[in-house]
Amino acid sequence: MAEPLLSVRGLRTHFETPEGTIRAVDDLDFDVFEGRTLGVVGESGCGKSVAARSVLGIVEKPGRVVGGRILLRTHAGDTLDLAALPQDSAAYRAIRGPEIALVFQEPMASFSQYYTIGNQITEAIRLHLRLSRSAARARAIELLDMVGVPQPSRRIDEYPFQLSGGLRQRVMIAMALACDPRILIADEPTTALDVTTQAQILDLLRELQAKRGLAIILITHDMGVIAEMAHDVAVMYLGRAVETGPVADIFAAPAHPYTRALLRSIPTVLAKPRTHLPTIAGSIPMPSARPAGCAFSPRCSEVLGDVCRQTEPPAIGEGARSVRCFLHGGAP
Ligand SMILES: Nc1ncnc2c1ncn2[C@@H]1O[C@H](COP(=O)(O)OP(=O)(O)OP(=O)(O)O)[C@@H](O)[C@H]1O
Ligand SMILES: [Mg+2]
Repeated sequence: MAEPLLSVRGLRTHFETPEGTIRAVDDLDFDVFEGRTLGVVGESGCGKSVAARSVLGIVEKPGRVVGGRILLRTHAGDTLDLAALPQDSAAYRAIRGPEIALVFQEPMASFSQYYTIGNQITEAIRLHLRLSRSAARARAIELLDMVGVPQPSRRIDEYPFQLSGGLRQRVMIAMALACDPRILIADEPTTALDVTTQAQILDLLRELQAKRGLAIILITHDMGVIAEMAHDVAVMYLGRAVETGPVADIFAAPAHPYTRALLRSIPTVLAKPRTHLPTIAGSIPMPSARPAGCAFSPRCSEVLGDVCRQTEPPAIGEGARSVRCFLHGGAP
């Protein structure tokens, strides 16, 4: 298998609060490859967004990356450990945009309402590339055209509120691609959109990936989106990946009881309308009160006993697959 573009190992991002330490990301591992999509899936609060912000160096206070490595292979061919760079350093600013870019869930919150989309894209371009204002504008029109904004030379002078949700998300993607990054992180990019627009945006991401060899980290809580979009998947539970591997293998033979439970929650065409979706018993614990042993053990229907409740399962596996569960070995 090819070398990963991005390799995250043992990442820990914690928030020190007066109420205690919130271990939002705690010993997270994953790899991202050129031209492939890594789907990151898990319930609300499991640390997906904090993991994305850690990679981009935009963790909010009082959060901080306190351990692990974020190894990035750059355009220039160097390998950098982003976890060792201060978030506000010039070196990190040179990563955000030209190497790794982010698309958020809610584009309205990411745009300024007072500037045209053209102003905002050309700003993003001129921050990193030495282009004249007119050359940057021409590049912005090209980008808008590439992401399927109709009449780009007219719409470039519109304000964000004049665009539909789907068009705003396209503009957001254009802005993310302005400096030609190799890795795009899309954090729930379609959750705020209706089903048809959602499908169009996912199609666009696939098309851009095919054209440019983009590596995509697609964050979602929806296993259906994973099935459709991802090549590889990392299933997160309470700050760490409990199972990773190629999507086809994981859908064919999910190894972790949590992955199996998530898969059972996908509605299928066979399911009768209005039948209840099987849900996972219990609720996700707070990351400040991580259960002992396997963090999933209090909710697990296949728990083996004290070993699961007392010992943290190590990651075991072969090749691209790995699972943290004593059902598959690794017991002390
Ligand atoms: N600024 C912050 N201060 C304190 N805790 C935070 C902060 N940001 C996130 N957290 C905590 O970190 C944990 C992980 O949050 P995160 O936003 O990464 O979850 P998520 O998997 O993206 O969830 P969702 O699916 O709802 O977007 C949560 O328990 C959250 O409360
Ligand atoms: Mg999130």
